Amino acid sequence: MGKIIIKQGDITWEEVDVIVNAANSTLRGGGGVDGAIHRAAGESVLSECIKMDHCLTGECVITNAGRLKAKKIIHAVGPVWSGGTRGEAQLLKNCYRKSLELALAHNLKTIAFPAISTGAYRYPIEAATEIALTQGFQFKEKFDCIIFVCFSRDDLAIYQSVYERMANDENKTLGSG
Ligand code: APR
Repeated sequence: MGKIIIKQGDITWEEVDVIVNAANSTLRGGGGVDGAIHRAAGESVLSECIKMDHCLTGECVITNAGRLKAKKIIHAVGPVWSGGTRGEAQLLKNCYRKSLELALAHNLKTIAFPAISTGAYRYPIEAATEIALTQGFQFKEKFDCIIFVCFSRDDLAIYQSVYERMANDENKTLGSG
């Protein structure tokens, strides 16, 4: 049975089949978690990204993981928050859903996500967490483990409280069925 794990840490250290990167559409690296992943993984990842040229917002691509302990990296491009009126929620949902589908297509059964779009792209953390965990709940039985890696203690507390609310709702639904 699949598990959802929420933890605080640096995603570059995760020993999973695949980690997800919060990339931008140029796929040339950047700051935040993107910078950390490219620095830790090394040149082989950047050169594979460069060959792919670009990736649209809400989409994702897969590369090797260079020096990381993970086997693969999925580079997902989250939306820039601009008030919520430009389809940001659907685009962020697509990032998670397509990353999970791409992992399954490659037979990768353990996956770790950062909080996509909630840093430089300014997506409100609580709303983003709901989207991330909703997708986690929908896919969890297809994976051995889905890990959400929070960089800060504040983000960890938000993920934990949203998780508890959703897990209670899920139990109520199962109980009434
Ligand atoms: N491990 C896990 N999470 C991390 C790490 C790390 N090593 N470093 C940063 N984070 C967290 C941030 O604290 C934030 O919660 O990742 C989350 C996403 O923040 P960003 O990295 O800024 O990503 P995003 O908001 O999606 O913006 C993407 O930033 O640098 C660029 O190239 C990237 O242009 C793209 C943009």
